[in-house]
Amino acid sequence: VNIEKVRVVEVGPRDGLQNESKFVPTERKVKLVEDLVDAGIGNVEVTSFVSPQWVPQLSDSAEVFSSVKKKPGVNYTVLVPNARGFETAKEVSARQIAVFAAASETFSKKNLNLSVSESLEKYKSICADALENGMKIRGYVSTVVRCPYEGEIKPERVADVAVSLLEMGCFEVSLGDTIGAATPGEVENLLKVVSERVPISKLAVHFHDTCGTALANVLVALQAGVHAVDSSVGGLGGCPYAPGAAGNLATEDLVYMLQGMGIDIGGIDLNRVAKLGHEMCKFLERPNGSKCGQAIYSS
Ligand code: HMG
Ligand code: MG
Repeated sequence: VNIEKVRVVEVGPRDGLQNESKFVPTERKVKLVEDLVDAGIGNVEVTSFVSPQWVPQLSDSAEVFSSVKKKPGVNYTVLVPNARGFETAKEVSARQIAVFAAASETFSKKNLNLSVSESLEKYKSICADALENGMKIRGYVSTVVRCPYEGEIKPERVADVAVSLLEMGCFEVSLGDTIGAATPGEVENLLKVVSERVPISKLAVHFHDTCGTALANVLVALQAGVHAVDSSVGGLGGCPYAPGAAGNLATEDLVYMLQGMGIDIGGIDLNRVAKLGHEMCKFLERPNGSKCGQAIYSS
């Protein structure tokens, strides 16, 4: 691997908690974010300003975002699906938002109640407004390899959506294997096709780990030149509108692999992250989704 430095983007407080049946109390959500930052995480997706009817687990999102004590130099992101969510982001003085589109029409409809082009049209004006307000914008493309409703997705479709998101001002586009079904050959091909139209430096990867291929997929992405990887503490995560999706790649497992490869990830303390994953999984009464976390806590 020819990569010296990787930006680890922690999505556990958002992707992780949006899909758990147990409601995590506000103070505990706030503490999770603060503890992750104290453990050395420099990029954290705090929550999402979506409809509480659609994602009741994050109905306290504005309070969570406002309550987190922000540390200088850390990027605190909030997911925004529409103008209403963007207004909330401004009210709480968010400096970075994330907008999320999909490569599959059916998934887009199920997740946002919009077609892909309708969602991109709405994001265009939100992004213009965000840039005027000096905010940074991250973009997501979901269902980049397979869709729970449509099956296989063509990489060209992913490239189309990624190009649109970058054109509207996203600094980076994270490619989401929403249902965690991708295998390394598919990821290699996806990145080859997408990077013909988008600089590889503008791409991040976001693997769910349903089938155990997430770390292998990360390795392939690093070999292709990707240097930003999303993960979730304790392997929490899933999408309520993607049936069968398991948690994200666990941050602990990603950190273990990257540090072992001598890649600079900015001083993340593996043991501290593992403790947070262990405690949150215990609280949620679910098995620890991190192999590395399991290993640390079984000894
Ligand atoms: P809709 O029903 O078409 O919109 O949903 P609506 O405007 O009719 O709103 C419905 C209700 O929600 C209304 O309430 C609105 O006021 C309220 P009512 O008037 O009926 O009482 N509402 C809001 N409240 C607070 N904040 C808001 C907001 N917007 C509407 N921002 C909508 C459209 C976009 C709102 C809905 O589809 C939605 O919230 N979708 C988000 C679903 C979601 O969060 N999915 C998971 C995140 S994406 C993901 O996990 C994938 C990712 O990880 C990458 C990967 O893995 O691939 C990023
Ligand atoms: Mg996800």
